Amino acid sequence: MRAVAVSAFGEQPQLMDLPQPEPGPGEVLVRLAAAGLNPVDWKIADGMFGDAKPASFPLVLGTDGAGEVVGIGTGVRRFTVGDAVFGQFQRPEQGGGSYCELAVADENSIAPAARSVTYATSAALPTAGMTAYNLVEETRVSEGLRVLIVGATGGVGTLATQLAHGRGADVIATARPVNADLMMTLGATETVDHTQGPVADQVLARHPEGVDVLLDLTSGPEEFDAMTRAVRDGGTAVSTIGSADADALTEKNLRGFNFANRPSPQLLEILAGQVDAGRLTVLVGREVPLEEAPDALELSRSGRARGKTVLAITG
Ligand SMILES: NC(=O)c1ccc[n+]([C@@H]2O[C@H](COP(=O)([O-])OP(=O)(O)OC[C@H]3O[C@@H](n4cnc5c(N)ncnc54)[C@H](OP(=O)(O)O)[C@@H]3O)[C@@H](O)[C@H]2O)c1
Repeated sequence: MRAVAVSAFGEQPQLMDLPQPEPGPGEVLVRLAAAGLNPVDWKIADGMFGDAKPASFPLVLGTDGAGEVVGIGTGVRRFTVGDAVFGQFQRPEQGGGSYCELAVADENSIAPAARSVTYATSAALPTAGMTAYNLVEETRVSEGLRVLIVGATGGVGTLATQLAHGRGADVIATARPVNADLMMTLGATETVDHTQGPVADQVLARHPEGVDVLLDLTSGPEEFDAMTRAVRDGGTAVSTIGSADADALTEKNLRGFNFANRPSPQLLEILAGQVDAGRLTVLVGREVPLEEAPDALELSRSGRARGKTVLAITG
């Protein structure tokens, strides 16, 4: 089968012809129609998680995917052949990922796909959607709170903006002018152009009292520290890329943490339900064929994604 994989950490991703995987007990074999690209895909290829995540090679890249169940292992209860599913397929120890034609997933890593959207849209949802959902949940975003989302125009940010708005919060979203209208359509109350000077200064100029919650998806440690100036005393500041320093936050009387995602099949079902109910829009920014995954990963690495990139695998 066709797959995009690396032969070692740090090697260039390449289109390869790899053997079809077989589902073990509790596992499902899925013919993927589409794979969703996340920044974590190139971080894994780079070996960024090192020994924390043992891997076997060639390592198929990609976490997210959607397609049709074509085989089930023993003991599988939740699915049968022919089901339309979406979810997470990353299994580095087995060399498995989602940038391929046939992928194996634990049955608890996938869920029935939303009925109202294409496989391409479903493939864009799992990691970014569960991250966005857990972020607003764990920071207790609720009615009347002011939430600043930094990196709002990407995969996680566009979904977090909608979910925070859905909970009645006022969302300040970072966006270049070209993306400002889009973010307002998704539920932002206002936007801040992160290319026009420090975001914290711009926010404080409009709201001297500060924001209640900072969801920061892009800032390195120093920038994150500067960004927390925009958070009110006693507020909450979270980084998705490990930039939060617990001691520094405590000193500033802020609640905060480095976010770690907690995926679950229930969460996938909630997200698919919200998509079908028209409450959540998944923005597919670009759809490219599987063999263009190496170039698409390079673009993701540059940090300039708008919405999600999806790899089309089978029609
Ligand atoms: N900890 C976890 O479990 C977890 C889970 C999911 C994601 N993440 C991480 O969270 C980050 C975001 O993920 P994603 O999927 O949303 O990424 P993405 O789709 O690649 O989006 C990145 C977005 O950030 C914007 N951006 C870049 N630099 C910025 C800056 N200085 N200020 C404001 N916006 C900026 C970009 O917009 P412009 O091009 O317009 O600047 C782009 O829209 C990634 O590093 C990812 O690995 C972590």
